[in-house]
Amino acid sequence: MGEPCLSDRPVIVGAGLAGLMTALHLNASAPCPVTVLSSAPLGTEASSAWAQGGVAASVGPDDASSMHVADTLAAGAGLCDALAAGRILQGAASAIAHLAALGTRFDRDEAGELKLGLEAAHGRRRIVHAEGDATGREIMRAVIAAVHACPAITVLEGVDARRLLLRDGRITGVLAGRRNPDGRDEAIRLASTQVVIATGGIGGLYAQSTNPSTCFGGGLALAARAGAVLSDLEFVQFHPTALDAPGTPAALVSEAVRGEGARLVDETGRRFMADVPGRELAPRDVVSRAIWAERQAGHQPYLDARGLIEGGFATRFPTIAAACHAHGIDPDREPIPVRTVEHYHMGGIAVDEAGRSTVPGLWACGEAARTGLHGANRLASNSLLEAMVCARSVADSLLSSRLLAAEPVEGQALPPSELPRRPDPAPLRETVSAMVGVLRARAGLVAGIEALLPIARGCSAQADPALVALMIAVAALARRESRGGHYRTDWDETDPWQASSRSLTMADALRLATRAIARDPA
Ligand code: SIN
Repeated sequence: MGEPCLSDRPVIVGAGLAGLMTALHLNASAPCPVTVLSSAPLGTEASSAWAQGGVAASVGPDDASSMHVADTLAAGAGLCDALAAGRILQGAASAIAHLAALGTRFDRDEAGELKLGLEAAHGRRRIVHAEGDATGREIMRAVIAAVHACPAITVLEGVDARRLLLRDGRITGVLAGRRNPDGRDEAIRLASTQVVIATGGIGGLYAQSTNPSTCFGGGLALAARAGAVLSDLEFVQFHPTALDAPGTPAALVSEAVRGEGARLVDETGRRFMADVPGRELAPRDVVSRAIWAERQAGHQPYLDARGLIEGGFATRFPTIAAACHAHGIDPDREPIPVRTVEHYHMGGIAVDEAGRSTVPGLWACGEAARTGLHGANRLASNSLLEAMVCARSVADSLLSSRLLAAEPVEGQALPPSELPRRPDPAPLRETVSAMVGVLRARAGLVAGIEALLPIARGCSAQADPALVALMIAVAALARRESRGGHYRTDWDETDPWQASSRSLTMADALRLATRAIARDPA
């Protein structure tokens, strides 16, 4: 590890849209040297690049930010922070303009106006998209090109953060690991008083998810071990319509397909959402549970998109068409088999309006952060927008606190043997899926907590994934009601007295887990 390094540039952990936009905003008006840690080659392991539907933005002539806020609050089932929602959603038009200026080729009509799609629980067509259903890929192409063109941004590929370094409760740096060609991990220590967590979601904890399998909530584990407060952890969103075909991660069949009129049917052609308010475009948790229930009852759910798109399905949804064709399914001729899979985590590192966590020197943005926008259930396509708007707030906050900063500090010097092992969530996936899936209940939560607690306390490659899963389970056990993405079969009503967000530290979670096991051993 050598001598402590005194360089003090911001370190961004994660290179999806939130992380890269933070780096670009830091350099918007003057060069600001910044280091971005990317565990994989840029763009290859980021959920942002896989986003299909698009970016929700109230830019249509019949729309207004206040309408977008109202739909977001309704989906959030009483747990959104209305001020945060107003602030973030108001930034939509300028975020879209910024991306267009970076070179993102959004889909437009002949007059040059943005084409707007519809998704579930949106009262208006307001989904801005690119290359049909390849919105994330096109946005990330433009953003990555801008990052490469900015000499002040250093991207360290193949490097993943393993611990945050602290002194007197303040961030002093990041201890990271890099896999050498011989397969061994090398420790890298980056001294910095400003660290941003932008590591994305938790889908890698589940057997079936639309996220890259490396996204297991690593940033949540880093922040929790540093003493940060995490909020709304029990709220996990499941996407109702992933392609039901072998392989993981699951291919998404965007909600935009239902926005174009596709119907959910079973193997007999019965439209099982026909009597549910909102039908196929009901809130995502409602549709997810309906599909889950159909499968439990022995039915095969399908999405029937035949004859919807003039010129053929692939003209509007080329990515989904390719995924279907790869499994021998022709969406123009046959219904698409679908299943419910993990998709998005509403909870995360609790941050204020500037993206500051409760640990001095630690910021968070993107899916890893809990801003209050999503509440108990995220409105479709609000997350790319949140990532862009909050990246700007984080960059502004970093820049203004740099002006006030004292001298660069020394980080802790750790011997190489203390580099934690490269995390591997795979052995935990069946446990996590059974414990905090679409449906939860006390017995399953306590059994999962009992299995995870010793692992989270240990130092194996499963320690960090187990800690994140444990904290989600403890939060789910404490919420004795059903709301949004959190559905308890043993507490299946929404309780108006529980309409508030809840927070946990790692110490709280370990204490509550121990108590739950003692009270109710599996
Ligand atoms: C989709 O395209 O259905 C996903 C959009 C989202 O999750 O925001």
